[in-house]
Amino acid sequence: MLILSPSILAADFTKLGEQIKEIESATGADYIHFDVMDGMFVPNISFGIPVLESLRKFTGKVLDVHLMIEKPERMIDKFADAGADIITFHYEACDDIAGTLKAIHDRGLKAGIAIKPATSWDVLKPFYAMTDMFLVMTVEPGFGGQGYMDMTTGKIKALRDDLAAEGYDTDIQVDGGITRDNIGIPLDAGANVIVMGSSVFKGSITDNVNYFGHMFNQYNKTE
Ligand code: DX5
Ligand code: ZN
Repeated sequence: MLILSPSILAADFTKLGEQIKEIESATGADYIHFDVMDGMFVPNISFGIPVLESLRKFTGKVLDVHLMIEKPERMIDKFADAGADIITFHYEACDDIAGTLKAIHDRGLKAGIAIKPATSWDVLKPFYAMTDMFLVMTVEPGFGGQGYMDMTTGKIKALRDDLAAEGYDTDIQVDGGITRDNIGIPLDAGANVIVMGSSVFKGSITDNVNYFGHMFNQYNKTE
């Protein structure tokens, strides 16, 4: 099933509530993607727990939290308390992958592992049985509005093929540089959870969500 996850990193934060309402008034976005950056794992700082708590009170959408932070194992309970539904952390930032997946599952949440463009997909193999979603970054994490890195397409495909060969139908999320023009590339490669910042928040949010929502609904009906 295809799922759209608009990234609020691209929102106008003076109008965050209104912009979430616009997403809700359209058809097609089931998730809200929430990018947490610590200025250490990535060279940027975004937003964190108080903003997530406010969002949790405001929307029933699935809160899809992408932790771009060092030692994410320290913060799982805090993000769970704040209202996350899915917590994805970076392979490169974590000293205890299996323990962190378990900590997320122990809170009743879905758990994801993200890899940066330079990280090989096969580091994920030991975690197939304990992971709900794999996030293949299609830009260097840290900033919205970058261009899709073509070298990541082969990783998406290799991961999808290997998961299938091992009998798994795990969600593969892609994040960064995805637009109306290139969305076919990660979809054809086997991604099914699509994060978009600029492509949702630039112009009419409702029109953009409807556009992708319609495309995804058509696909999901024929699946
Ligand atoms: C980048 C973030 C992305 C970002 C995507 O580090 O993880 O979620 O918001 O933004 P776009 O779609 O504009 O590339
Ligand atoms: Zn993200």
